[in-house]
Formats: sequence, structure tokens, C-alpha cells
Amino acid sequence: MSDRICLFGAGGHGRVVAGQIKARLPQTDICFGDAQKPVGSTVNGCSVEFATPQVVRDARLIVTIGDNALRARLQQAAIEAGVPMAVFIADPDRYFAEPPGEGSMVLAGAVVNSDARIGAGVIVNSGAIIEHDCAIDVFCHLAPGCILAGDTVLGACVFVGAGARIVNQARITARTVIGAGATVIRDITEPGIYAGTPARRIAALPG
Ligand SMILES: CC(C)(COP(=O)(O)OP(=O)(O)OC[C@H]1O[C@@H](n2cnc3c(N)ncnc32)[C@H](O)[C@@H]1OP(=O)(O)O)[C@@H](O)C(=O)NCCC(=O)NCCS
Repeated sequence: MSDRICLFGAGGHGRVVAGQIKARLPQTDICFGDAQKPVGSTVNGCSVEFATPQVVRDARLIVTIGDNALRARLQQAAIEAGVPMAVFIADPDRYFAEPPGEGSMVLAGAVVNSDARIGAGVIVNSGAIIEHDCAIDVFCHLAPGCILAGDTVLGACVFVGAGARIVNQARITARTVIGAGATVIRDITEPGIYAGTPARRIAALPG
């Protein structure tokens, strides 16, 4: 298998992941894909080579787009087109669980503890802490510095904002958005946007 990774999404998150891969795996050749940047341009010294994830060739793919629904759509389209996926764990010495699902990225400073399970296409962003026995379903995004106490269960496509905290054993229903700095102290069963301490529902999900 090629030691080349295509990061689809050359925005802020993609540049973060590229920088961390360069630092941690300097032998890896990185290129970008992006629907909005011209093929042939460069971003942080890496060439943009693909306009859609389905046409990625000679590289394994990670979709580096923070939006959960879009990341899910692009990853699934790429898999259906036969594109192989990669996984990136910036600090394997802080990762104490089974490997995450395909396309997932666990960024610098994050800690993942015993028996946590992480599905496909998940972003565990820099400095997030996933405690023992948490179950993170596919295409969640755990923003920098958030903390999930032990046994927490996240449904698919949940977003946990920067610095948010979730008490142990909470169940969070799919697609929930938890605002930056929130403290979730009980289960969330109604999809929506939640913020504050304790976290309360402030809005319905868009769309
Ligand atoms: C929660 C969030 C998604 C809401 O965004 P939004 O729907 O655009 O909401 P608005 O900015 O219109 O704010 C609506 C109300 O909620 C409040 N609010 C918004 N975010 C809040 C937060 N994180 N904590 C507490 N209150 C918050 C606003 O003050 C506003 O209150 P008001 O109606 O009394 O004026 C967003 O503010 C947020 O926290 N995003 C996470 C950002 C992040 O962590 N990014 C990391 C990327 S890697």
C-alpha cells in the first residue's frame, strides 16, 4: 500500500492534519483534494490533486472536513468508488484502545483510554480526552479540548464543541450539536443544539 495520503479538504482542519502528519510521519507523502481549490495549486507546500474524493488514486484518503454530514457523504462516496481509507493517530502513546474506524483522525495531545470505541470518519481533535468505555459512533467530531467522561455514548454525527464536557454514562442522540464550553450533565434524547452549564437546548438543528 502506498505511503501517500490524500487529505480531502484543504481548509483550516486539513492544514492542521497535514501539519501533524508531516511532523509525526515525515516519510509520508501528503497531497490534498478540494472541490473549491484549483487542481495544480498548492496549500502549505502540498499539491491539490483531486477535485472529488472518488477520483483519488495512488493514495489512501482521509476526509479533513469538520462538518460531519459533509464528511460522511464524501467518505461514503469515496469508499463506494473503491478508494482506500487511512487512519491517523498523532500520539499512539496516548491511545489505549482498539484502533478507530477507517478515515478517523486522532490529533495531537488527544487521549483515548481503555476500551473506548471509535467508529469510522471520526475527528478526535487536538487535546480532546475520551475516557474509558466511551462509544463514539461514526462521523462524530470532538473539538479541541473537550472531555468525555467514562462510559459516554455518542450517536452518529454528534458534534462536541471546544472545551465542552460530558458527564459519565451520558447517552447523546445522533446529530446533536453541543456548544463550546458546555457541560452536559444528563442524557440528550432530543436532537438539537445545546449550550451552557448545565447544557440546555437552545435551538433545533438547521434544515
Ligand atoms: C452552540 C453553537 C453551535 C451555536 O451557534 P448558533 O446556532 O450560530 O448560535 P448563535 O451564535 O446564534 O447564539 C444563539 C444564542 O446561544 C448563545 N450561545 C451560543 N453559543 C453558546 C455557547 N457555546 N455557550 C453558551 N451560549 C451560547 C448565544 O449567546 C445566543 O444567546 P442569545 O440568544 O441570548 O443572544 C456555537 O455557538 C458553538 O458553540 N459552536 C462550537 C464552536 C467550536 O467549538 N468550534 C470548534 C471547531 S474545531
